[in-house]
Amino acid sequence: MSHKPWEHAKTSGSEADPLAARFVSSLDYDRRLYKHDIQGSLAHARMLRDVGLITAEDLAAIERGLGSIESEIDEHGDDWSGWRVELEDVHMCIEAALIEKAGDAGRKLHTGRSRNDQVALDLRLWMLGVLPELTGRFEALQRAMVALAERDGRFVMPSYTHLQRAQPICVGGELMAWLEAFEAARLRAERLTSFWSRSPLGSGAVAGSSLPLDRDAAAAALGLDGLAANSIDATASRDAAADFVYALAMTAMTLSRWAEQWITYASTEFSFITLDDAYTTGSSMMPQKQNPDMLELIRGKCGGVYGSLVALLTTLKGLPIGYNRDLQEDKRHVFYAYDSVCDCLDMAAKIAGATRFNEDKIKATLDRGYLDATSLAEYLVTRGVPFRTSHQIVGRLVQLCEQRGLGELRKLALDDLRAQSDRIGDDVYDWLGAENVVKRYQTTGNAGLSGFEQQLGAWKARLS
Ligand code: ARG
Repeated sequence: MSHKPWEHAKTSGSEADPLAARFVSSLDYDRRLYKHDIQGSLAHARMLRDVGLITAEDLAAIERGLGSIESEIDEHGDDWSGWRVELEDVHMCIEAALIEKAGDAGRKLHTGRSRNDQVALDLRLWMLGVLPELTGRFEALQRAMVALAERDGRFVMPSYTHLQRAQPICVGGELMAWLEAFEAARLRAERLTSFWSRSPLGSGAVAGSSLPLDRDAAAAALGLDGLAANSIDATASRDAAADFVYALAMTAMTLSRWAEQWITYASTEFSFITLDDAYTTGSSMMPQKQNPDMLELIRGKCGGVYGSLVALLTTLKGLPIGYNRDLQEDKRHVFYAYDSVCDCLDMAAKIAGATRFNEDKIKATLDRGYLDATSLAEYLVTRGVPFRTSHQIVGRLVQLCEQRGLGELRKLALDDLRAQSDRIGDDVYDWLGAENVVKRYQTTGNAGLSGFEQQLGAWKARLS
């Protein structure tokens, strides 16, 4: 007879071959679900008592048994004696330990339940449970960005489109952009995950149960928002996991873009920022090197998180409806992506907290690239010139600067300016030069001084 307590229909089980035993087991990674598994079992057992399928004494024995199992695992972790690879997974190890402690009461716990609804529930509880931690990590990064913006945010810098100099902005205007992008990633994770706050428990293996289970009561006891509506879908679907990993992939993508930006800014060619020595490394050959390895690894780890998403989606794509063992692989990808993104968020917060923008270096080249050309065109609009015409006029003035080797619009004499448009007055110089321009933006959300101050205030209020 098989050693597996649930394999009585077979003459032997996977424990007969050590490779098969290891191959079918998910214990390596799913033991991480033990608290959620116990939480789900307690809710299930209480519901079984309430509908009269087990006695109050059974429930008391189950509660005592699960309580001590949880303390034992808390204490011994991976070394807990109940982890037995031949029992396949966290669910069976905990149930076997419970039966050892509680006898027949333990044997009643699985009434009306399958590992199929059990694991679907555990994973949802786990994902919902980590959301506050994830939020905390996002907020730590956002706080670090806000502190950096408070200190260096009023420095004037170029903005870029196509990686070509565009219009002048405040350093803080760009930092607010990253804050916004991180916020979108945080909200995406929160919304996509909380959408799945519906209980699969009571779906059984595939078809539900002929026993009078009270699914609503169990869901309410778990703090979930209702029920997964169909027993087959509830056990066969991993859409919740895919949404979660997608949200993590988007987070990794955002972090990777940011890392790339700052890697560029830390280069000698830009020198816009200085990274703290703790977050750079030297070269084993070139003595002078200070490489932005932590940022590069944030960029690099994004590949692994994308890999998790693609792996999970690929696992799912060919599956017939109803539970298939392929689904066991889902948790690897969920956990890998989560751990990697957590590391990256934590690292990003530390880097942001220790980075300085180099005002002098940024200033040294601020006059290059005609950052104020759009401002001049808008000045002409305030003088009644149609924008398309003003765009042409400024284009000609830029050409003139180039021909004369001036490099800056504000170096043109008033007569030269007026030769292109007699609408230009001597107040034009207030619209030229990057420092003047960043003070002139007035649209909501602008990346200049007023927009930065407004957004900074909102972020400080939001994070306080
Ligand atoms: N460890 C398994 C998983 O993660 C549990 C489900 C096993 N179900 C089954 N019918 N064999 O998916």
